[in-house]
Amino acid sequence: MADAEKKRPTLTTSAGAPVGDNQHSLTVGRFGPLLLQDYQLIEKLSHQNRERIPERVVHAKGWGAFGTFTVTHDISKYTNAKIFSEVGKQTEMLLRFSTVAGEQGAADAERDVRGFSFKFYTEEGNWDLVGNNTPVFFVRDPRKFPDFIRTQKRHPRTNMRSPTAMWDFWSLEPQSMHQLLILMSDRGLPQGPQYMNGYGSHTYSFWNDAGERYWVKFHFKTQQGHKFYTNAEAAEVIAKSRESFQEEIYGTIHRGEFPKWTLFVQIMPEEDVGKHWYNPFDLTKVWPHSDYPLIEVGEVELNRNPDNYFAQIEQAAFSPSNVVRGISFSPDKMLQARIFSYADAHRHRLGTHYEALPVNRPHSPVHTYHKDGLLRFMEDTNQDYPDAYYEPNSFGGPVEDPRYKEPPLKVEGTAWHWDHSEGNDDFRQPRDLWNLFDEDQKARTASNIAEAMHGIPQFIIDRQMGHFEAVDPNLAERVRERLATMGKSEEDRETQKDMDRMALSDAGPR
Ligand code: HEM
Repeated sequence: MADAEKKRPTLTTSAGAPVGDNQHSLTVGRFGPLLLQDYQLIEKLSHQNRERIPERVVHAKGWGAFGTFTVTHDISKYTNAKIFSEVGKQTEMLLRFSTVAGEQGAADAERDVRGFSFKFYTEEGNWDLVGNNTPVFFVRDPRKFPDFIRTQKRHPRTNMRSPTAMWDFWSLEPQSMHQLLILMSDRGLPQGPQYMNGYGSHTYSFWNDAGERYWVKFHFKTQQGHKFYTNAEAAEVIAKSRESFQEEIYGTIHRGEFPKWTLFVQIMPEEDVGKHWYNPFDLTKVWPHSDYPLIEVGEVELNRNPDNYFAQIEQAAFSPSNVVRGISFSPDKMLQARIFSYADAHRHRLGTHYEALPVNRPHSPVHTYHKDGLLRFMEDTNQDYPDAYYEPNSFGGPVEDPRYKEPPLKVEGTAWHWDHSEGNDDFRQPRDLWNLFDEDQKARTASNIAEAMHGIPQFIIDRQMGHFEAVDPNLAERVRERLATMGKSEEDRETQKDMDRMALSDAGPR
């Protein structure tokens, strides 16, 4: 013990000056006031005041770990991305899971979509795949995203979540039906990060050395099996712990039981666009496996917990704009908007040079001409050429390499505010999904829907019921039956209803 104490380093200020007393502030007299010159106290307090940064505007509550991706099957005919270049190849990666709506202190075992964000540190830069545990999303046009998210967050007057707002929006946007059904099913409340699948959700593209492009969807299937909570079980979990997901994932890795997922892709030839009743770039749709079977590619293993949650998980910045050679975007308009939105959020949340932070820094060389700004702490990436601080120049420095140029993407059409709901069938795939559920899954899903709806205004229930009818009359019937069993005795729902009424009514308290 005495030995260990001898080895302890001397405490210093952040300017490196050794500190003589970290236990007692500098006061005038034994009980006297402080002196402003106690700069070590001031440094301590002012650092504490700056410990919180803006939380993510969505997906604020998260859990993450590091791991390895290993290629098990060759897909190099579709893509020249280095990460997939040969069987057996391993790439280091980070995976962050999250809920969407809750703030940083929210309980983990809430019914919500889960985020599934990968950062693959490939030898040709970082590839981020920022998906969810669902293959589809609530809306297919990014103009609707901020409004949708508003309905999931707190009501401005009551400062409470509002089921009325949620169902008002969903009932006005039947395009949300597919994702809504998944959310209300067992998949909407997993027991922990390792018990759910991950999906890239959007259609992306692969391209190869021959300049051929393929449309691609990514699926990460859990090897731990799907485990879910019922609403009642989740309420018990939350009563005991708000951090059940953190406990699950941290604990399992700490015990050396490394969770794994198998990566599959679906590949669509470029010319297949327009051949199906569904638009392959519509984020509310899946590609049926009968049209495009799953092709096995590799395995993800999480095997290292972060050393510091804030530095490595909170400061992690994932962006769909981070693609690498061989992997690119598609015309999916949601994806297009996300290409802008995330890096913009990171510059606000973390600072201009956020990609130089250790967790975000690529494991491959970085040579840019970016210069000053917040977080400019790193060494000059072009220090061998001090006079080459712009490009083109005559003094050296990094230059482009045409081998990394993506093949041309053909786009045509008339610019217009096209209505993507015209002629779109929003109920066919939800119906297929409903028909896949067994009897118990159907009962639980209908019950979860009724519990979530109970207490909201009747006209919204009626409007939404019309959509459930369109999926399957049996779904609507089951929801109606379950609603009828839910009397006025459920005080918590009554409270929520009252709060929603207060917010909606002009006569409500202001
Ligand atoms: C986080 C915007 C749709 C998955 C975020 C953040 C923003 C954002 C601003 C916070 C980023 C940060 O501060 O680090 C948008 C916009 C969307 C959209 C504008 C639609 C137009 C989606 C979709 C998915 C998704 C469709 C999944 C398929 C995620 C995930 C995170 C996230 C997983 C958390 C990332 C992390 O772990 O740090 N989104 N989002 N988002 N979003 Fe989206």
